[in-house]
Amino acid sequence: MQAQILVTGPEKRPVFHLTNGQISYIIGITERAAIPEQLYFGAAIRPQAGYDFLIDRENRNGVLLFDQDPTSSLDYLGQEYPSYGHSDFRQPALQLTYPQGDQVTLLTYESYRILAHKEPLPGLPASFGRTPDDTMVLELHLKDEGSGLKVTLQYAIFSDVAAVTRSARLEQSGTETLWIDRAMSLALDLPDHDYDLIHFYGGWAHEMNLERQPLQHGIYQVSSLRGVTSAVQTPLIALARPQADEFQGQVLGFNLLYSGNFLSQTETALSGTTRVLLGIHPDLFRWELKPGHSFQTPEAVMVYSHNGLNGMSQAFHDFYRRHLIRRPASKALSPVLLNSWEGCYFNFDQDRLVSMAETAREMGIDLFVLDDGWFGHRDDDTTSLGDWRPDRRKLPEGISGLSHKIHALGLQFGLWIEPEMVNPGTPIWEEHPDWVIRVPGKSASPSRNQYVLDMGRPEVVTNLFDQLCRVLDGAGVDYIKWDMNRHLSELYSHALPASRQSELSHRYCLGVYQLYERLLERYPDILFESCSSGGQRFDAGMLYYAPQAWVSDNTDAVARLKIQYGTSMGYPLAAMGAHVSAVPNHQTGRVTSLALRSTVASFGTFGYELDPAQLTDAEKVRIKQDIADFKKLQPIVAKGCFYRLISPFDRPELCAWMAVSKDRQQAYVAVFRLLEVMGQERTRIPLAGLDPALLYTVKGPWQSLTPRYGDNLMSAGLILAGNKRDASRQPDGQRGDFAVYTFMLEAVAQA
Ligand code: DGJ
Repeated sequence: MQAQILVTGPEKRPVFHLTNGQISYIIGITERAAIPEQLYFGAAIRPQAGYDFLIDRENRNGVLLFDQDPTSSLDYLGQEYPSYGHSDFRQPALQLTYPQGDQVTLLTYESYRILAHKEPLPGLPASFGRTPDDTMVLELHLKDEGSGLKVTLQYAIFSDVAAVTRSARLEQSGTETLWIDRAMSLALDLPDHDYDLIHFYGGWAHEMNLERQPLQHGIYQVSSLRGVTSAVQTPLIALARPQADEFQGQVLGFNLLYSGNFLSQTETALSGTTRVLLGIHPDLFRWELKPGHSFQTPEAVMVYSHNGLNGMSQAFHDFYRRHLIRRPASKALSPVLLNSWEGCYFNFDQDRLVSMAETAREMGIDLFVLDDGWFGHRDDDTTSLGDWRPDRRKLPEGISGLSHKIHALGLQFGLWIEPEMVNPGTPIWEEHPDWVIRVPGKSASPSRNQYVLDMGRPEVVTNLFDQLCRVLDGAGVDYIKWDMNRHLSELYSHALPASRQSELSHRYCLGVYQLYERLLERYPDILFESCSSGGQRFDAGMLYYAPQAWVSDNTDAVARLKIQYGTSMGYPLAAMGAHVSAVPNHQTGRVTSLALRSTVASFGTFGYELDPAQLTDAEKVRIKQDIADFKKLQPIVAKGCFYRLISPFDRPELCAWMAVSKDRQQAYVAVFRLLEVMGQERTRIPLAGLDPALLYTVKGPWQSLTPRYGDNLMSAGLILAGNKRDASRQPDGQRGDFAVYTFMLEAVAQA
């Protein structure tokens, strides 16, 4: 069904019903005060002439908006964009300070506009329609009592995914300056609080750990004030009915298309309702809004699933793949890459790199990526960030010389950069001390020996753009890994007056986006991968610029199961940078089979991060086969539906997942048995997402199994009979701890 926005009711009190046959989002306007009221978000409901049955008014004492009207307390009203200062004492979406010092705001409805086309948001990531008629946009125009402030709430609904996006634009059409203390992107008031909150925590090398807890009364904040989204907490949150699991039950998913300080918050209020807020973190934020100026919030997305967490993830995956990620046409599927980092760190020269690339080519790799260490005099991490000139000691022919050599081998060429950073001693540091974020007269904290450039200054963005163009012009670079290896501290911009220092974090993020946009415009065929000490900036905002992101510096296949499992909750596999690295693993010291390492990486972008010179001939043969196999599966993994079957967070000894092509003709299943537990050999793994009526051939690790119908595979499941057999006779990777079993399912052509 097409996306629709249906308008019913009287002209002054219209009701808006956004639907696409999968979901409905319904907004009313209250009788007396004309406040946009949230009526419904969930499974699609049939359009009707009126929706009064969704209006729920209670007589309440307390602070009232209208004298003698006990139904007029805003504390009990589900609102689209609640503001601070009247009878709603919950945390607001909007908080302003007015010239006389008060913070009291009342937004009321004025008019609306429906658009069949979604415009980009100035300077920010923004979802888009793929075809001329797959997206509908509703704008609600609100006005503030007395100040001249106009607020536009924007909603988008898409024909092919159970998602609604939200954002707000504030425009001061009055004559006085206002201060925005908070302007969230999304506010959703749910009628009850019978939910579990799911969110993610972690840090370097242990990103995206899933945590689930019943929603309690009070406020729960998931947030970052680190200048980036970070891995400590991430903006992605979900509200799941307590009975909901991976396969069934209602789940609402929320995410912010933004890469800076964020707040994702739930508040269970006095009437038992739940308020969800997502947006720029209001701490460390204050924006001066002068007459004639406007402020645009980032966009947020919410998805609905009644098929549990897998359904939520699939909605997110489809939304990002179809309506957010801009991939260069030449790289519709990610190239299989070899990254130099774990293979040689800073220790390389042109000959070593070319020889790595030669072996990579023999094994079938598409793209050779030169990671850190190619510029300035960077033999370790103490120097040269900000000086983006190739190090002629290592690369006598520069980047273009190396790139031409790699291209001559038939490989694409990729390069690492970390443009936001500076090391002491570089020309930028010496010549422009005021470009560095630090407070005059106060100490500045280094991290990895580096400091952060003030990306909020246009001249910094231009300097970096010009330096990078000097490297990239004519060099034929096909891929860039954009890294960012520290958080922002000692916030101060030399370019802003004292009264506007709290704009720095957001301006920084806008500057990063601007540099991305300028590079993308100039080099539309370059594929970007974002990175921040692993997955410290794996967020939906970045996906707009960089279609893939490095999930974690932890390349250990066992650790990766949890990290990729958690990441898959909100992000598509085609965006998840995943590499096979050497053993013992450089982070954990663990030794695992090539089979395990390559299976785990095959549920991501797939690549290698090791020194090919250290591989045995047998390993090279195996890798060549793995790459050829991956290329056959890649369309299923990158474009299909992903199902988590058994969670490593629930069962430390077992994990299983699978990808099914959208037409359900093919599926790729992986079962990871991390610990051999005697007595549990006959594990059954019920599959998911298959066509119940289709007959599938099942190619397993030890035999070709009898073809089975989809319903049979989803109910009776695959039987892991692996260690019934003589363990010592099973191939590497299929016995003992850290074993892996993969299955390919193919529908049998039916007459
Ligand atoms: C951190 C990244 O996560 C690594 O992959 C690598 O690129 C290093 N930085 C290089 O300094």
